[in-house]
Amino acid sequence: HSNAFVRIVEVAPRDGLQNEKKIPSTETKTSLIDRLVATGLQTVEVTSFVSPKWVPAMADNEAILKHCNQTHGGTTVDFPVLTPNAKGMQKALELGAKEVAIFAASSDGFAKKNTNCTVDESFERFEEVLKLARNAGHPVKVRGYLSTVIGCPYDGPTEPARVAELAQRLIDLGCYEVSLGDTIGVGTPGTIEMMLDQVMRRVPAEMLAIHAHDTYGQGVANVMKAVDMGVRVVDASVAGLGGCPYAKGATGNVATEDVVYALHGSGYDTGVNLDLLAETGEWISKELGRPNGSRAGRAIWTK
Ligand code: HMG
Ligand code: MG
Repeated sequence: HSNAFVRIVEVAPRDGLQNEKKIPSTETKTSLIDRLVATGLQTVEVTSFVSPKWVPAMADNEAILKHCNQTHGGTTVDFPVLTPNAKGMQKALELGAKEVAIFAASSDGFAKKNTNCTVDESFERFEEVLKLARNAGHPVKVRGYLSTVIGCPYDGPTEPARVAELAQRLIDLGCYEVSLGDTIGVGTPGTIEMMLDQVMRRVPAEMLAIHAHDTYGQGVANVMKAVDMGVRVVDASVAGLGGCPYAKGATGNVATEDVVYALHGSGYDTGVNLDLLAETGEWISKELGRPNGSRAGRAIWTK
């Protein structure tokens, strides 16, 4: 039944590639997106409309979004793009983006490093960003990320009550969903539970997603804890690619193959073909000249 369906938000083309030193070609990126769509994924975050001075790897955002609209425009797949401010939102909307994601942090230290403003200042910016979405002339879904929900590389551990308050603020602004980001992957099932316990007092599970990074090898355990608690949207990155250039010490996202393997093996449906996904993970790892960061992916591939 529908309660056993978990929607995967594949973030490799954005979170996975934003931190690459040797920037992959636009063709490699569009090829990755096409392969991901072919696995059955319904949501693929494809790029970000941020300052190219801050994140050079996403400078080809226009070509990427155009490719998605042209090649997959007639399908039901969603292609969210990240926008930090009105300038990014305007550009994304001009190119016909139907879903955008804004990103806030739970800690001022990370907010300043990542977006050059405090948490409160970022919420002031969002008012204008959300207004642009409402007046776009076509329906635009806005997703809200909330980073450093367990700990911040600059400010230390995060108070769960603070996370709950900010998650609610994102919903009040007009976000349809809040993705709770353990940006540096310091969470454990225990701290994830304490955080979600507080957040769910203010925002229903149906409006939440979990976004885990795997720095301490807790990614799958943290995702499954959130799913046990009723979260039905999980962000993940094929081959475990990823990391934020402004989050010191953060490694890749939890690998999509690992998450899909855990979910399917626990009775959940994702609509994703795991073999095709594992093949995609191997392919992109080779393209980038990196070891495949997914344990399940490697196991399936070498079987
Ligand atoms: P700033 O320097 O304070 O901004 O940066 P500014 O308004 O002074 O602009 C600086 C320059 O950037 C100007 O150009 C602007 O026009 C330009 P110049 O006049 O010098 O030639 N600019 C832009 N260009 C294109 N698109 C735009 C844009 N905005 C300004 N949208 C700013 C502030 C927010 C722009 C900057 O800090 C920034 O771009 N930050 C983005 C950092 C980022 O992308 N981080 C990674 C994503 S977040 C993440 O990974 C976490 C997540 O995965 C969840 C989790 O794991 O927790 C989502
Ligand atoms: Mg992330």
